[in-house]
Amino acid sequence: MSKLLFFVPEQASSVAGQVDLFFFFMVAVSGFFSLLIAGLLVFFALRYRDTGVAAERVEPHGDDLEEAAAHAGHGRGAMLLELTWTVIPLLITMVMFGWGTTLFFTLSRPPADAMQLNAIGKQWMWKFQHPEGVREINELHVPVGQNIKLLMSSEDVIHSFFVPAFRVKQDVVPGRYTQVWFRATKTGEYHLFCAEYCGTQHSGMIGTVTVMEPDAYEAWLAGGGGGAAGQSLAQLGERLFSERACNTCHLPSGQGRGPSLVGLIGSTVKLEGGGTVKADESYVRESILNPAAKIVAGFAPQMPTFQGQLSEEQIIELIAYIRTLGAKQGGPSAAAAKE
Ligand code: CUA
Repeated sequence: MSKLLFFVPEQASSVAGQVDLFFFFMVAVSGFFSLLIAGLLVFFALRYRDTGVAAERVEPHGDDLEEAAAHAGHGRGAMLLELTWTVIPLLITMVMFGWGTTLFFTLSRPPADAMQLNAIGKQWMWKFQHPEGVREINELHVPVGQNIKLLMSSEDVIHSFFVPAFRVKQDVVPGRYTQVWFRATKTGEYHLFCAEYCGTQHSGMIGTVTVMEPDAYEAWLAGGGGGAAGQSLAQLGERLFSERACNTCHLPSGQGRGPSLVGLIGSTVKLEGGGTVKADESYVRESILNPAAKIVAGFAPQMPTFQGQLSEEQIIELIAYIRTLGAKQGGPSAAAAKE
């Protein structure tokens, strides 16, 4: 099929073929009906054009009214026609709806075994962090054949992560995490774009996704991604955790002034005043920047805000560390933690 599609980008991910097939189905259906309607329009305009000979306008009188009444009787015969042109488009659009929704769910739900990387958009660059601590700017290296999940945030305005060859595009929004996943099927280099106008140099907010054989990727990682080998995100987060004195309140025993963070990520947290919240990355991020937003049941709202004191990278490091607390204790997110 891809030979036919000379005008679409290369297909380099597990979903690319499905997205294209769906897209071409919609183009074919729309094209068919557009041509049909335009064709009939021209045909009828010619066939029933006003030749100027039959036009003698008269007021309706008795015979005309009878004729009109007789035509109205055709309404029953037209029922079949009415049903046909109602039901067929309905079925076609329902197919589009069902198919599109299924595809949307596939695209928006990362597989459980996906390897998580972090992406940060800022005016005007893409920053990526591998769990092992390797950082990249406007370049992303990933292994082929592996499900990759990107947890993304923005430092300023809305950006959009777009890799045409993977057929994935996802807004990157300040103040929250969004995610996107893909499984590259071919090694090579692919364009990465920002697909949301984000200021003067929006068009320059581009980069390259390099898909490598797993061995080559491991070697690349081990070499620190060509730069100095650093500490893992979780190690950096652990250091921050004590530097910022988080550890003085969030004791693992739960006896501190703040709740224990052991096994937190992935768990369900009871809140003061009733209600619960699923402790995902967005919740942890919010609790760091705006601690009063959701108070854990049994604790006082006394944590200071870290708004403006931590970069997005540092928050990601803290979250990576907190996730390992779950893993050590065999918490609910133990399987998800790759560190
Ligand atoms: Cu970032 Cu456009």
